[in-house]
Amino acid sequence: MEQFLVEMRDIDKSFPGVKALNQVNFSLKPGEVHVLLGENGAGKSTLMKILSGAYEPTNGEITVRGQTYKQLTPKLSQQLGISIIYQELSVISELSVQENIFLGRLLTCNKLGMTVVDKARMNQETEKLLTDIGLKCTPQTRVGYLRISEKQMVEIAKAVAFNADVIIMDEPTSSLTEEEIAQLFGIIRRLKAAGKGIIYISHKLKEIKTIGDRVTVLKDGEYVGTHNVKDVTIDDLVTMMVGRELQSKYHATSHDRATLGEVVLEVSNLTRKDGYVKDINFKLHKGEILGFSGLVASGRTETMEAIYGAVPISSGELRLNGKQLRIRNTYDALKHGIALVTENRRETGFFHNFSIRRNLSLAKQLKDSKGGGLYGLVSGAQERKISAEQVRAMQIKCATIEQSITELSGGNQQKVILGKWLAAGSKVIIFDEPTKGIDVGTKSEIYKLMRMLCEQGVGVIVVSSELPELLAVCDRILVYYEGRINGEYTIDDATEEKLVYSATVPREDA
Ligand SMILES: Nc1ncnc2c1ncn2[C@@H]1O[C@H](COP(=O)(O)OP(=O)(O)OP(=O)(O)O)[C@@H](O)[C@H]1O
Ligand SMILES: [Mg+2]
Repeated sequence: MEQFLVEMRDIDKSFPGVKALNQVNFSLKPGEVHVLLGENGAGKSTLMKILSGAYEPTNGEITVRGQTYKQLTPKLSQQLGISIIYQELSVISELSVQENIFLGRLLTCNKLGMTVVDKARMNQETEKLLTDIGLKCTPQTRVGYLRISEKQMVEIAKAVAFNADVIIMDEPTSSLTEEEIAQLFGIIRRLKAAGKGIIYISHKLKEIKTIGDRVTVLKDGEYVGTHNVKDVTIDDLVTMMVGRELQSKYHATSHDRATLGEVVLEVSNLTRKDGYVKDINFKLHKGEILGFSGLVASGRTETMEAIYGAVPISSGELRLNGKQLRIRNTYDALKHGIALVTENRRETGFFHNFSIRRNLSLAKQLKDSKGGGLYGLVSGAQERKISAEQVRAMQIKCATIEQSITELSGGNQQKVILGKWLAAGSKVIIFDEPTKGIDVGTKSEIYKLMRMLCEQGVGVIVVSSELPELLAVCDRILVYYEGRINGEYTIDDATEEKLVYSATVPREDA
């Protein structure tokens, strides 16, 4: 008989109004990467939270190290050598890297008969971990100063440090750069070689072919099946998770320059006070989707923050439909109809303690209000109407609109954020990494939605690190290099090679 690290059998999990898991089976062998695959809301995170002891199953049993349990607690799960990297980052910004890594399990030593915290050893171990995963910061760096991808790396270091046998990674690469992903895969291969089992959740199907050994597919909380990764194609996987073959890939229709509509947004000579972006000039036309490419921190998101009024500029002019705008803060941006769908949804995308209803209607309410939101807020009835419309339009999977947004699956939270800006009748919508953590089916829905918005005359900007995504949805692509625009391509002219070239070679050297 094969020896499993973990076996989960006939797992059920019900939440009020939702059956999140129905008779699900899952097992993990030593030295394998077992991928868990499924659309947004399929139940992946829920199954893993049962294994980490965060949720108790309604039914079923879990066997770990030959011992069978009805449920686990976080403590027991940790003692059994199970470690989880949650989908939504759980590092604490106010603490240092080292404190985050050793939170809840400080290393101690004996000094003069007393147990004291062993700072020297924690420092040493943290340094080694950081070198191992290739994170360039010191153990004392405050996590709040790190970029989102670096926070993710700290989270991974935390799981590895713990020397667990079972490591669960819930969408670990959703905000990592190519280079960081390569580093992570290196770590995963080392963990495998050391006989650890890794459970890997990702919406990036190509990644699964690269790193996965077995794959289990869930659909709407049901167990679809388990296969060896080498025996299935990406198309097979898509069919299993979506339950149908996806229509041919969505492609941008290329526009003749002459047929481009009038200019919706014009940015001239934009320079940020902190110098992160310099002398940015571009025009966004009606009826086009404008893409922004470039390496992480090359100035794409930094430009959007400036347009959105989130950071001060030292020079520059913005024109919306020909009218010059003064945007001093994000409230001005909202009033003028400029929306930013941020890449980091957990930190800046929504209000955690608000319901889906409030989150969906908030932007519209603020926009319609007077005196900076002090009066003129709309009624509960209107809120219900606005949010019910968006839940329908965006096909948000929830039990009721009164549910807390934190209860939604990651992808459905993203839909709420999009729905909020649509409800507010935005004139320009900036999408920053819009399909991070979004399953393939929903992805094509979002692309269609962008095209629809753009046809309705809304200006659409897409910042993305995924070149295939930019090539699939944009009509024109600008490429950043070190804070400046370094290249511009129409969709007919753009290729992955050209985008990479402009992102890495300054124009003067070309
Ligand atoms: N705490 C909770 N309370 C109520 N419902 C919940 C809770 N947690 C999850 N759900 C529901 O359970 C279902 C499965 O959610 P889960 O987060 O496991 O999906 P997922 O497969 O991880 O999706 P994603 O790819 O979007 O992260 C969803 O319908 C979700 O709304
Ligand atoms: Mg999830």
